[in-house]
Amino acid sequence: MTLSALQFARDHQAAFLEELKHLLRIPSVSTRPEHRADVQEAAAWLARELRAMGMEHVELLEVNTGKGESGHPLVLADWLHAPGKPTVLCYGHYDVQPPDPLDEWVTPPFEPTEREGNLYARGAVDDKGQMYMHLKALASLFAAHGGRLPVNVRVILEGEEEVGGESIGIFVQEGGDRLRADFALISDTEMFAPELPTLCVGLRGMIYTEVEVRGARTDLHSGMYGGAAPNPFLALARILAGLKDAQGRILIPGIYDGIEAPTADELAAWRRLPFDEARYLEEEIGAPALVGEPGYSVMERTWARPTLEVHGMPGGFVGAGAKTVIPARATAKISLRLVPGMRADEVFGKFKQHVESLLEQGVTAEVRLIHSGEPAVIGTDNPYIRSAVEALRQVWGTEPVFVRSGGSIPVVGEFARALRIPSVMMGFGLPDDNLHAPNEKFAIANFHRGIETLITFFELLGARTGEAAG
Ligand code: BES
Ligand code: MN
Ligand code: MN
Repeated sequence: MTLSALQFARDHQAAFLEELKHLLRIPSVSTRPEHRADVQEAAAWLARELRAMGMEHVELLEVNTGKGESGHPLVLADWLHAPGKPTVLCYGHYDVQPPDPLDEWVTPPFEPTEREGNLYARGAVDDKGQMYMHLKALASLFAAHGGRLPVNVRVILEGEEEVGGESIGIFVQEGGDRLRADFALISDTEMFAPELPTLCVGLRGMIYTEVEVRGARTDLHSGMYGGAAPNPFLALARILAGLKDAQGRILIPGIYDGIEAPTADELAAWRRLPFDEARYLEEEIGAPALVGEPGYSVMERTWARPTLEVHGMPGGFVGAGAKTVIPARATAKISLRLVPGMRADEVFGKFKQHVESLLEQGVTAEVRLIHSGEPAVIGTDNPYIRSAVEALRQVWGTEPVFVRSGGSIPVVGEFARALRIPSVMMGFGLPDDNLHAPNEKFAIANFHRGIETLITFFELLGARTGEAAG
């Protein structure tokens, strides 16, 4: 009797988890130049793994972004020997966010540690652990089916997701045969609640900017010149205050023009989700109160309305002690999250114009676009979503819910626009997994159950005929 892929995965749970820990020990922080070699190593490690399991045409690809500097490599692979069956494009990202503040981690970010059924490490859930579920589902299928898969599979893994890198967008737009597929499969989102299988069908887009305000030619003694020289931090503060009001309404003229509201069905479904605002405030946020636009639920505010946030304000004197200086320049890192109906280039234009209109005498400003990505809403009326619902139902024993997310995965919009394929976003993170924060974790049970769900999904897909296989 041949072993089933599910049984193979169950028999190898301990090994899968140990292997994931190897990947998590590689500090592939894409935004930090000093980690460049680590990002490369993570890519090479994944390529080896893909080759070993039986994937073909495994390749590290550095995309020429036309800017001189090369980005982090894409990892590509395929296995296309299931004629007449659907072709799945598996996407994930192997880069991670910086781990700081380091002193808030209970155990070090790149020393994966098990505690109370969770695996703690930077990247545990976003996205190394979730991406690795795809690889282990495929490896289990190869092992159980004599080196074959029930569907055609292409794999594309990127190392620039967390920095809004351009490589993957360029590669997707250039298209070509290497990405031809019926749909993309992505595990980089969360479940709405523990034990509640979830498909994500919408993401916000974003523009990430820097506003640099300049006053005097150089830093000045604040006693000698204070009262006569402009202070760029105060000028910047007044700009920031003019971007969003205390009600959470963005003050950029025309910013809400053309926004597409969720459908009545979608809103009704969101109202049925098990959501306890007091618990959310207490356990997830931990601030004295929630903020945001009156008249919109938390789900609407975070999934279907734009937001503007300030991430940090580099410049001036921030060390311990006191220094009496009027800084020559002050910077703010500011992003906007976009929803359907908004376009990144248009939003940036309106933002820039508004910032410039708020400039006061004595200072100048430079408004820079660091990166951007378009919003995405995915239709649910396709056979891949239906098979995903069925797989989730079988493995979790409950009816899955459809949600959107306030986060961004820029390539999803590119898959829709350039490849004209939908994405199935089947993630197994939990709301308290501390993404981008200290003590990021992944529930170990979700890692294993995610693998079983993916195996089931691939097998269900293999039982149907391909709509546009090849
Ligand atoms: N996986 C997240 C996005 C996400 C988080 C989706 C939670 C759904 C639920 C992704 O890695 C991410 O953090 N993206 C960045 C994008 C950016 C840097 C271009 C984000 O949303 O800030
Ligand atoms: Mn992610
Ligand atoms: Mn992330």
